[in-house]
Amino acid sequence: MAQEFGFGNPEIIEEEVDILLIGGGMACCGAAFEIMRWAEGTGLKIRLVDKAAMDRSGAVAMGLSAINTYMGENDPSDYVRYVRNDLMGIIREDLVYDVGRHVDDSVHHFEEWGLPIWKQPGDEDKRLVDGGKPVRSGRWQIMINGESYKWIVAEAAKKALGIENINERVFIIRLVTDKNDPTRVAGAAGFSVRDNKLYIYRFKCCLMAAGGAVNVFRPRSVGEGGGRAWYPVWNAGSTYAMAAECGAEMTMMENRFVPARFKDGYGPVGAWFLLFKAKAMNAYGEDYQKKNEHLLERFGEYGKPPYGTCLRNHLMMEEMKHGRGPIYIDTATAMRELAANMTPKEIKHLEAEAWEDFLDMTISQAGVWAGENIEPDKQPSELMPTEPYLLGSHAGCAGIWVSGPSDIPGAPADWSWGYNRMTTVNGLFTAGDGVGASGHKFSSGSHAEGRIAAKAMVKFALDNKDWKPELGRSVEELVEEIYRPVRNFLEHKDYTTAIDVNPHYITPKMFQFRLQKIMDEYVGGVSTMYQTNGKMLELAERKLEMLKEDSLKMRAKDLHELLRAWENYHRLIAAECHMRHIKFREETRYPGYYYRTDFPEVDDDNWKVFVNSKYERHTGAWSFKKIPYKQLIKD
Ligand code: FAD
Ligand code: ADX
Repeated sequence: MAQEFGFGNPEIIEEEVDILLIGGGMACCGAAFEIMRWAEGTGLKIRLVDKAAMDRSGAVAMGLSAINTYMGENDPSDYVRYVRNDLMGIIREDLVYDVGRHVDDSVHHFEEWGLPIWKQPGDEDKRLVDGGKPVRSGRWQIMINGESYKWIVAEAAKKALGIENINERVFIIRLVTDKNDPTRVAGAAGFSVRDNKLYIYRFKCCLMAAGGAVNVFRPRSVGEGGGRAWYPVWNAGSTYAMAAECGAEMTMMENRFVPARFKDGYGPVGAWFLLFKAKAMNAYGEDYQKKNEHLLERFGEYGKPPYGTCLRNHLMMEEMKHGRGPIYIDTATAMRELAANMTPKEIKHLEAEAWEDFLDMTISQAGVWAGENIEPDKQPSELMPTEPYLLGSHAGCAGIWVSGPSDIPGAPADWSWGYNRMTTVNGLFTAGDGVGASGHKFSSGSHAEGRIAAKAMVKFALDNKDWKPELGRSVEELVEEIYRPVRNFLEHKDYTTAIDVNPHYITPKMFQFRLQKIMDEYVGGVSTMYQTNGKMLELAERKLEMLKEDSLKMRAKDLHELLRAWENYHRLIAAECHMRHIKFREETRYPGYYYRTDFPEVDDDNWKVFVNSKYERHTGAWSFKKIPYKQLIKD
């Protein structure tokens, strides 16, 4: 079969290690760096697999211009208050506090490894760790020259782990439970996205940290702009899909992130709002945030400043719904006011920073400005809320339910089951975008959380030293499953003369369009202005079930399509989980992220709870439960 596919039969590589790190982003780089400190001399075998090349993989690929979580003079308990407020009152405070108390150490390492961090005048040569004062854009954010941020962090990770223990461009598509204990993970399967090789790993434990999910919803950029999104396009929901299919309890998957961004280029707004003090306005020049403040009163304690990210969106969406768009960010006035008391040299520096901010983070935005002849210091730019993304480390908290640290006073005993950041599946750990109910970690917090998980994984592996993993599925079965899209193609390709039109298979691209249409139109995407209701969700459920049946018919005419097919499968499972969580939570917890029009209010009496779900892969059944929220840090 594979001869016709264009290359020989796949080489099957089977490997047994003690610990597998899946992903090469901030969380896994943190884990790779930390793990060697604890594994030294233990003889544990550790391997990292990334679907891409670590130097430029994940959300930090293009670089960043700020580290959004740095405590400095702040106390981690204040950080918990900030995250709780931003995420509408429901977070795992044990996990958030844990990130808060460890995150600065990661930032200090970044600086030691060569990341330039902006300092206050006079402190330029003083490192943070020695008391150097950073330039803050906001209370939690510090400015960096971060074009090479990911490169620097990846280099340290590679050095620590050893290049020989890293497999790049290996896409993991399935976790496999243990033959004798289905509540335990024992292996993972995937394939090389470059060579004709299939990988089967066996291990004692693994870190599933493959980021969040993009392109689940129809993006605003379609056609000629297709492929452009705010969130990195290669994070396709693998973390959520594989964990759910392995039996892990998911939490807060109803949550999503809808960033307000520079329109079309998806350029971030944080630096402009926080550092340059730019104001947003409606088409008529009104400061709609001020004008609409009263609209937030109905959200009770959540409607008081500082408003959470979703409520800032809500104010913008109200303007758009009432026909007072486009919405603008007034970059020109901000620049003028900042420049008022500056020397020409300082102004040049300011402008360089305003532009540089995008060239080292979202090059596409600089492209839009250049292409549309927009000079940000002379005219405003349009803002737009994007399509929704699923993630757990930025201003969102979708993810997996994990064990927390055991030393947080007041934390319920059943929030900690022995190994920090282990999911409800034995041996399956997660970090970064994978951990639910614990947002606002950003790049630094995800790195720190990877380190936290790494330490716990070493303990797990040593505690289980004599345990031998046995896969619950045969290698032949896994190979058969991974290559199903190839077989679909080879078996049916001659049925028609047009390679993409065939009643026996569906191309990954068409499959993705179908998924995005369902999610967009029924599950609160941009076309309904983020609104949905129980009836629409019932239809979404039916349509997604049919799409799931058709997922078995996806075709792959080459290795690239095989990658796309499996990415879309992961997206589908993540999407289904998101949809069902929204259906279960009968309230509008996140106005500005999505609206249940049949339950339009925040309903603390019934819904100030975590929503957890569990998926049964063999039957396709989902079960749901509410878990009481517990406040650990006082107001
Ligand atoms: P990622 O860093 O995204 O890593 C995911 C990794 O998983 C990647 O290496 C990917 O290749 C790999 N992968 C995916 N699927 C698979 C698979 N199936 N098999 C194997 N590997 C896989 N934070 C800040 O502090 N400051 C900022 O200014 C900032 N700006 C941001 C701007 C954007 C556009 C985005 C999207 C995020 C930004 N963040 C910022 C947040 C920060 O980037 C994330 O919080 C952080 O990268 C999350 O870490 P992670 O390891 O969970 O995911
Ligand atoms: S980025 O991560 O893609 O750079 P963004 O620019 O929105 O995202 O946010 C950077 C940081 O600024 C985040 O910590 C975010 O919560 C914060 N932020 C963005 N806009 C505002 C605002 N208008 N008010 C307060 N904080 C904001």
